[in-house]
Amino acid sequence: MTETRILTGIKPTGSPHLGNYLGAIRPALELAGQPNHRSFLFIADLHAATTTRNAEHLRHDTLAVAAAWLAFGLDPEKTVFYRQSDIPEIPALAWLLSCVTPMGFLNRSHSYKDATAKGLKAEDINHGVFAYPVLMAADILLFDADVVPVGKDQKQHLEITQEIARKLNFVYGDVLKVPEARIDDQVMTIPGIDGQKMSKSHGNTIDVLLEEAALKKVVRQITTNSTPFGDPLMWEGETVFSLYRQLANKAQLDRLRGAYASGRKDPAAGDAEENFFGWGHAKSELFELLRDRFREARARFAELTAHPESIESVLEQGRETARAIARPVYDRVRGAVGLTGRLW
Ligand code: ADP
Ligand code: TRP
Repeated sequence: MTETRILTGIKPTGSPHLGNYLGAIRPALELAGQPNHRSFLFIADLHAATTTRNAEHLRHDTLAVAAAWLAFGLDPEKTVFYRQSDIPEIPALAWLLSCVTPMGFLNRSHSYKDATAKGLKAEDINHGVFAYPVLMAADILLFDADVVPVGKDQKQHLEITQEIARKLNFVYGDVLKVPEARIDDQVMTIPGIDGQKMSKSHGNTIDVLLEEAALKKVVRQITTNSTPFGDPLMWEGETVFSLYRQLANKAQLDRLRGAYASGRKDPAAGDAEENFFGWGHAKSELFELLRDRFREARARFAELTAHPESIESVLEQGRETARAIARPVYDRVRGAVGLTGRLW
């Protein structure tokens, strides 16, 4: 039976937060477990290099992202997990793709258009940003990927990948598999501690891998309204409740909803002030849920980051597996184009 290959990349920009976990990591790990599927997940450090200018940060974030995925449950036996810069076939293929990619495809790409819209002139935009979609096409096409799950913001990049593959196939015959994008429009938007979309760029993230005291402090900072202590709390669209709901089981959720609706810890236990339920209690419930839910992941993350060599060894194994799969595909393209030099 033929396997369906699922592939996606993650840019190493800081350690993942709760929004990344719920919106991207958890769904990707669920996909990886499906029968007849093989999943490829890589750390897109070459893409990060288009914008970062700090070597120390790039090194740190690459390991932090790898450690976080492993801590959250990525099984390197089930998923081919690698670092983009470990695979020389990727930039080599990117060059061959560049040679058939019309400049017009890239002129229209969002990343470049956004940079020009910000008022940046061509002289101020590096070529890596311009060529970003070609490198991304190489990531995908090198592995004969069938399906590429991405967020809405990556839709156009996927279309460019498909066009580049078709273009190369048009010139040289059927060489590349044209992948399919899987864009989840339904992905919920996880709110950050200020109620806006949780995002590193908003500085409102909850890092669930933080040690407990720090996690508690962040949860305490969640913005809430000024409902008087003891009055019922509104839960619809409210941040503490929204976050709780993502991770709680039904019994926990029903209990919290009851407390919100009544303003009482135990709705059946009367109106004494000790039984009042306010924002402080709601936040404690959320903190305890996050603490318990991610206890194991937090311990694994601490263990992995204390031993970076263990992360390196996982990536090393991923590199071998990934290159063994990538080489024949690269060779196919190399042969079709008429190049006679070898990469290794
Ligand atoms: P950030 O906005 O913090 O820079 P990224 O843009 O690196 O996060 O997001 C990586 C992935 O995590 C995205 O593909 C997206 O699906 C998911 N993601 C990020 N923030 C959220 C959020 N607040 N809610 C749901 N999913 C999110
Ligand atoms: N550009 C993607 C992002 O910013 C990351 C990425 C790089 C990627 N190469 C990829 C995603 C290949 C899917 C497939 O999120």
